[in-house]
Amino acid sequence: MKIDGTPYRSIWVDEADGWSVRIIDQTKLPWAVDLVRLTTMDEMAHAIRAMLVRGAPLIGASAAYGMALAMRADASDSNLVQALALLGATRPTAINLRWALERMKKALQPLSPAARTTAAYAEAAAICDEDVATNEAIGRHGLPLLAARAQNGRRVNVLTHCNAGWIATVDWGTALAPIYMAHDAGLNVHVWVEETRPRNQGASLTAWELGKHGVPHTVIADNAGGHMMQRGDVDLVIVGTDRVTRSGDVANKIGTYLKALAARDNGVPFWVALPSSTIDWTISDGLADIPIEERSAAEVTTMTGRALDGSIATVRIVPTASPAANPAFDVTPARLVTGLITERGLCDANEAALTEMFKELA
Ligand code: MRU
Repeated sequence: MKIDGTPYRSIWVDEADGWSVRIIDQTKLPWAVDLVRLTTMDEMAHAIRAMLVRGAPLIGASAAYGMALAMRADASDSNLVQALALLGATRPTAINLRWALERMKKALQPLSPAARTTAAYAEAAAICDEDVATNEAIGRHGLPLLAARAQNGRRVNVLTHCNAGWIATVDWGTALAPIYMAHDAGLNVHVWVEETRPRNQGASLTAWELGKHGVPHTVIADNAGGHMMQRGDVDLVIVGTDRVTRSGDVANKIGTYLKALAARDNGVPFWVALPSSTIDWTISDGLADIPIEERSAAEVTTMTGRALDGSIATVRIVPTASPAANPAFDVTPARLVTGLITERGLCDANEAALTEMFKELA
């Protein structure tokens, strides 16, 4: 997608040296587009942990390049094992991390150390290219859901939570891919962007990327989503996900579950967009089996933004003595999900449909 007319991906190998890795530091958005250069696996691990890069597919792609940087420094068997473990522990919920590292392990382990660096860069690049193609396919399969409601220039209102756009993937995004396609095809699409406390991925990231691409959108407080649905102002909800069980339960950014409940109560379709790399075929019960990341209480007790004098400031919004808890994801049971938008097409959120669609993976 484009930033001020220039096409970008969210991660790429630096053209100048051919080996270091460039990312857009997402902690600086929307105030600055800071193209950070990463030169070591430790820097990549930090970028994932501290959420300079985030979003399930991008976490996977970043870990893949983390392996390439690790192999460039030391391609021995012991460093291969160590790097896989270290990168694998950076964030717990997004299954794309494990998926990408398993793929890197399979590609690298059988090779001699001398062959590993080149192979690691090639595999990481393949993961990125495939992610772009996959998300483009998700967009194509999701587009008719919007087109059906946008006949004769009618405005179609989509509500989304968190950021499942191009900067959460390598390009296109998952939940936002059908929206970009609808917009580019001239449909009258408008997005209700939930701010997504505590880190505000909606307000800071989704609003930024939709704005840069020219997609009409309005930021709302998380708590406004149900009200919008009751008033008939939401045609459909589309969200991304960090992990889907083989039975179709969906883990996504905290607050998603409440929107699924409100959508069900109001007869609003609730769609989840995902690449098959987000399906965890080893588990069935999302509530019991998906690890939910607990992040720092400081993300709840403080907020960061641009002060009126233009400086970036962090302010405390909770009494100093009050503790805070910060579960970063929740699980929406499959029964509340209208359907899944995958790279192979629309799929019911249940084991029979998922295993039928992805026979060779299930
Ligand atoms: O904590 P984050 O910002 O990494 O969480 C991101 C989300 O919850 C996204 O909705 C999900 O990863 C899908 S991204 C295409």
